[in-house]
Amino acid sequence: MTQAPPTAILSALAEEQGGLVAHLENPQQVQRAGRVFWSGLLHGQPVVLGLSRIGKVAAATTTAALIEGFGVERVLFTGVAGGVGPSVRVGDVVVGTGFVQHDMDASPLFPRFQVPLYGQTVFQGDAPLTALLVQACQAALRSGGVEGMPVAVHQGLIASGDQFVNGVQQSDAIVRSLQSHGHAPLAVEMEGAAVAQVCADYGIPFAAVRTISDRADDTAHVDFAQFVTQVASVYAHKIVNEFLLLL
Ligand code: ADE
Repeated sequence: MTQAPPTAILSALAEEQGGLVAHLENPQQVQRAGRVFWSGLLHGQPVVLGLSRIGKVAAATTTAALIEGFGVERVLFTGVAGGVGPSVRVGDVVVGTGFVQHDMDASPLFPRFQVPLYGQTVFQGDAPLTALLVQACQAALRSGGVEGMPVAVHQGLIASGDQFVNGVQQSDAIVRSLQSHGHAPLAVEMEGAAVAQVCADYGIPFAAVRTISDRADDTAHVDFAQFVTQVASVYAHKIVNEFLLLL
């Protein structure tokens, strides 16, 4: 019997992947491009789990290796991000509808933020897959997050760049410059737009969810470190389980 192509589930860090590797049925380890991937079944669905590593280049390499090596049907990213939208709080989740590189600037050759030779600034998440992911988040977090805190599920633009945003001025500058070009981000992180671009190159549907670990302000590094170990994996696990049940 030939098996259906797998769903890839990527995160930057192991903590963001919700201990899913331990739940794999028939786990197989495969190494490619210096990365370790795990394939197997979760809820009867074929999946490949991988860690993108941190930053756009590492994430792009991981995504290309994953697509080339496993013939994946779709890519889901779960991780954490800094909240920069006014109503986006720590503990909320943001499902990305679009992805922009906040540090892309080939002006004056190309418009600011546009990815050169693509004629495109924002790479969209796959609409049907993103709608499923929103549904999965709502189901997973219906009874609240950690300690029953209510969790808002936002949908909107995620901005990626090779910076951990760790200051109000830094965060304001990113938000203001994107806004002045008509893009209002809800969250900042370091991989999503790279993964979205590679998936677009290969024509593979992509969706991403980020739990807000910090407000990208002066205490972001402290909030991030606590959140990623204590909360992120719980959310990721719940959301991925619901998502796979909906596929
Ligand atoms: N991931 C989580 N928090 C972040 C931040 N403040 N900046 C960049 N990536 C992040």
